[in-house]
Amino acid sequence: MALIQDLNWRHAVKAYDSTKKVSKEDIDKIVEAARLAPTSSGLQPFKVLVVENQELKEKLVKGALNPECMRDCSHVIIFAGWDRYTADRIDKVYDFTTDERGLERGRFGSYTDKLKEIYLAQPAAENFAHIARQTYIALGLALGQAAELKVDSTPVEGFDNSVVDEILELDKLGLKSVSLMYVGYADAPQDWIAPMKKVRIPTSEFVVEYK
Ligand SMILES: Cc1cc2nc3c(=O)[nH]c(=O)nc-3n(C[C@H](O)[C@H](O)[C@H](O)COP(=O)(O)O)c2cc1C
Repeated sequence: MALIQDLNWRHAVKAYDSTKKVSKEDIDKIVEAARLAPTSSGLQPFKVLVVENQELKEKLVKGALNPECMRDCSHVIIFAGWDRYTADRIDKVYDFTTDERGLERGRFGSYTDKLKEIYLAQPAAENFAHIARQTYIALGLALGQAAELKVDSTPVEGFDNSVVDEILELDKLGLKSVSLMYVGYADAPQDWIAPMKKVRIPTSEFVVEYK
């Protein structure tokens, strides 16, 4: 029930109070929610980049559709996916997993061979589309965690990926940006959407039931 209340409480904030900063403790919890997101085959094929540095935010603003929001929020969290699957990346994750579980490496070899057979045969763009989908689960959980902490946020696709990728030199990390999350505290008088009703398609239309 608490989750439903938190989800009703949150909204995509349109203006932030630049004087209010989110505590490191709360940012850590939001990031932790993203880290705990389930991913296809457990590959966790993405990272989050947390930008608090104002100078860096000012540079990223160049690519933002809503520059004030990015400038004034406390932190910008960038969800960035692997540019593609590789055998090395898959092996690294599974070696780590088996080590962590005290199992012999290669225990899941037949499974990872299958993954490689499927993913390595695909063009990079098809890999990245799959990887990007994984990041949205993490974004959703991070939004939920922020709401639970009563920290305001905005999920954001309205930005120029090439600007973000270039400024943060994501290619050097083998990553490409997918989405952003602005985190902070709303500037209530400027946050024009806040007084408006939260609108969702009624459950009766949203759900198709087979009883
Ligand atoms: C993937 C995604 C991308 C979004 N991109 C933007 C954006 O670039 N700018 C913005 O103001 N809102 C953005 N939104 C917010 C949506 O417009 C908002 O979530 C939706 O209208 C529902 O409103 P609510 O989140 O306030 O309940 C985005 C939401 C999602 C899930």
